[in-house]
Amino acid sequence: MSHLFYQTAQRRPVLDQARGVYMWDMDGKRYLDGSSGAMVCNIGHSNPHVLDAMRRQMEKSTFGYRLHFETEASEALAAKTAALCPGGMNKIFFVSGGSEAVESALKLARQHALAMGQGTRWKVISRSPSYHGCTLGALAVTGYAPLTAPFAPMMRAMPMIPAPRAYLDGLDPADPATGAHYAAMLEAEIIAQGPDTVLAFIVEPVGGASTGALVPPAGYMQAVQEICRKYGVLLILDEVMTGAGRTGRFLALEHWGLSPDIVVLSKGFAAGYMPLGAIAARDDLVQAVLDQGGFLHGFTYAGNPLACAAGAAVIDEIDRLGLVQNAAEMGKALRLQLDGLMARHPIIGDVRGKGLLMAFELMADHDSKAPLPPALNAHQRLVDIAYDMGLIVYSRRTRDGIEGDHIMVCPPLIVSEAHLDEITETLDAALTRLVADLALAEMA
Ligand SMILES: Cc1ncc(COP(=O)(O)O)c(C=O)c1O
Repeated sequence: MSHLFYQTAQRRPVLDQARGVYMWDMDGKRYLDGSSGAMVCNIGHSNPHVLDAMRRQMEKSTFGYRLHFETEASEALAAKTAALCPGGMNKIFFVSGGSEAVESALKLARQHALAMGQGTRWKVISRSPSYHGCTLGALAVTGYAPLTAPFAPMMRAMPMIPAPRAYLDGLDPADPATGAHYAAMLEAEIIAQGPDTVLAFIVEPVGGASTGALVPPAGYMQAVQEICRKYGVLLILDEVMTGAGRTGRFLALEHWGLSPDIVVLSKGFAAGYMPLGAIAARDDLVQAVLDQGGFLHGFTYAGNPLACAAGAAVIDEIDRLGLVQNAAEMGKALRLQLDGLMARHPIIGDVRGKGLLMAFELMADHDSKAPLPPALNAHQRLVDIAYDMGLIVYSRRTRDGIEGDHIMVCPPLIVSEAHLDEITETLDAALTRLVADLALAEMA
């Protein structure tokens, strides 16, 4: 009997310890962490250098309230973060997680509009599907019906455009016309809303759990940046999942040479060693807000020195171990292996992603892209079968959260080819068992 409650009644074994890409429960069973938790533990578990840095910080201080002290740890991490962001983005604001970071980005954007005498701008356009967090502000810009619908009356509805799911619309993602087609939807929405009412566009550069690692079609990201500039709409890149090396660049925006107004970070940023998130913003944007009296926002644990010491050590380890490069190389190898699984298992209808942010989608029919009947609950079954076999993967539904089962395969960036073999061999066996189970389910 537990006094805790979780999202569902499903219980899991108690964690004993975790090292590198592996985790062990109290019975000594070993699991390969094929999803880095929820795409968090980018540098792997129990990295000794990060633990040492945390211990050193703990001996000095574990908390310093931001209105009373500045800390060396937060200054050091802010400097490292700014150096990894595009030029002119030198201002960093710390929080404790992704949802807090998204809230902070939305509120900074709004205060900037006020500072510029543009108080009519408050609408934040986002995409559907998308995921930006579970707090009510971040949820209002999230396009994922199962998570948003119950709370709709409590939120201010925000405009949304479709995510560029070329593979479902029968369009070629490599064709720049496809990117232009979906980007035009942003321009049309800005015009329909009234450009002087639109504050910002928030977007995951490579989709996360809501779309199953959706990679934007050719030219899309550059086009949305241009459209934002044309209408004075701020571009907020939510790199909570894509940041910290996950896609084979430190920030996914580097794939397209983007210069957004605000970048949102969390997850791999402190890799699960401490709760930490951040926004990086353009210097002039922050200056305008500070000149008007300051940012009316802040969380008690903002800039916590222990969290920042962990974050700085994580960035050092990403650099020392060459993890961005490893993510790019292992990502290519993983794609080949997942393509191989698709060739052997017709139930896989699509493999997609960038770097080690990879996913595959289960379908009833490869050609028509028809989804599996949602009642089969195939994505959860596959996660459970793999878990049973000692492999942790993460799943959601890709088509508005209602159907289109996808599985995220996102191991820590320290993976070797041998680990990838272990992941795909287990997935191979798990898919075979899933197909047999589904055949039984259909007969029942
Ligand atoms: C893209 C993106 N933004 C925001 C969040 C919210 O982060 P958190 O769960 O740390 O609040 C997530 C979490 O999955 C995410 O993937």
